Amino acid sequence: MSQPDSSAVKQTVPSQVTVTAGEKSVILPVHTGTLGNSCVDIAKLPKETGLFTYDSGFMATASCRSAITYIDGDNGVLMYRGYPIEQLSEHSSFLEVAYLLMNGELPNQQESAKFEHEVTHHTMMHEAFRTFLFGFRHDAHPMAMLVGMLGSMASFYHNELDLEDPEQRRMAAIRLIAKVPTIAAACYRYSIGWPIGYPKNNLEYVTRFLHMMKEVPSEPLELSPMAAKAMDLLFILHADHEQNASTSTVRLVGSTGANPYACVAAGVAALWGPAHGGANEAVLKMLEEIGRPENVQSAIDKAKNKESGFRLMGFGHRVYKNFDPRAKIIREMCHKVLAELGVNDPLLEVAMRLEEAALKDEYFVQRKLYPNVDFYSGIIYKALGIPTEMFTVMFAIARTAGWVAHWLEQQTDPEAKIGRPRQIYTGYAARDYAGMDKR
Ligand code: CMC
Repeated sequence: MSQPDSSAVKQTVPSQVTVTAGEKSVILPVHTGTLGNSCVDIAKLPKETGLFTYDSGFMATASCRSAITYIDGDNGVLMYRGYPIEQLSEHSSFLEVAYLLMNGELPNQQESAKFEHEVTHHTMMHEAFRTFLFGFRHDAHPMAMLVGMLGSMASFYHNELDLEDPEQRRMAAIRLIAKVPTIAAACYRYSIGWPIGYPKNNLEYVTRFLHMMKEVPSEPLELSPMAAKAMDLLFILHADHEQNASTSTVRLVGSTGANPYACVAAGVAALWGPAHGGANEAVLKMLEEIGRPENVQSAIDKAKNKESGFRLMGFGHRVYKNFDPRAKIIREMCHKVLAELGVNDPLLEVAMRLEEAALKDEYFVQRKLYPNVDFYSGIIYKALGIPTEMFTVMFAIARTAGWVAHWLEQQTDPEAKIGRPRQIYTGYAARDYAGMDKR
């Protein structure tokens, strides 16, 4: 495998920094990757000075070395294994991207066929999963079911999993990529009372998933090629995003030596929140609430008012401070899908007005808040007939490729340690236990 070219480093950075704490000085090494900001290695700071560092929300802290995904937030750059997202969106497929993320290189024809064959032939769920699924309330949110079902996978494959064996680790990754769509479709069908289907292995990944989710036994599903194309594109764009909250969760759980299915279940739980993957569902609900272009300005005003507690969902990003390259691609696809499927969704008009108004507004300009990946994706999902409560599940299916790639990378990282942050304790100093009569 060719190694990234470290001559690509543009900044001139010191190889070490000196931190002075009172009378003590400590020299800390600086680590530089192939691209991006260099990092001060603070590991010996506590030992030398007795001080820890504080960085709530990891605003300035790298937690690992990774060769998978690179983001340049100032310039709107996203690359998987060095390949720009724009090129992958145009030329690749989700399954090829999953291979790339996991293995570091694009597959040749043989590798591609083998990977597709393996993923295709691990799509079935153990029949006992059904009994498990039927235990959920009929109105359970599909993300709640997905967390539970994935956690339960650990019980099906735990005993035979030797984390020291690279082939077993690879198979766990393949199983996850293969089975998450089957489980996701089953969760949805259960929630609406449809019979749970089986994967049709003559179909390719995305089409198979759409069939599993939408086909009824009584009639064949007519699927527009545009639907599969749009879904594949959305999956590519959502496949990885370096150390985001859910991937960091997968890595944190993985750092304890936990089973990969449990790690990914934890990732799904982290993804669910509206500040992360749950935003796509929240965007659509917000657009529905706004309802008409005339109401856009009052939504903008509400988002600017901190006391309202309301944020423009699908706006802003921790890393992108110029534009989210995924949003640019999705916006274009959104127009294409709606035109091709003949869908006239008034929410698109609301979304465009909202984007336009926010991009002109001083509050959003100053804070560098731009539409993110979730802003237009919901409108596409809606046009494809995907119900709102399944939007974050779609994100989870795609992000599974990234989660397993990071989990695999972590397993062979010679510097990997159990993740264990420190804290600034703000509770009581020592005090004596008070008996009930003294409280
Ligand atoms: N609407 C209104 N104000 C906002 C928004 C928004 N969507 N996002 C950030 N702000 C303001 C925030 O109030 C703060 O203002 P001030 O400096 O006056 O206190 C400033 O912008 C910086 O915000 P922050 O919360 O410190 O930024 P962050 O990096 O911690 O948060 C974020 C990033 C994505 C959580 C946030 O922008 C947000 O809540 N966006 C809405 C939810 C959303 O769309 N999430 C999906 C993210 S992309 C998909 C993914 O990768 O998960």
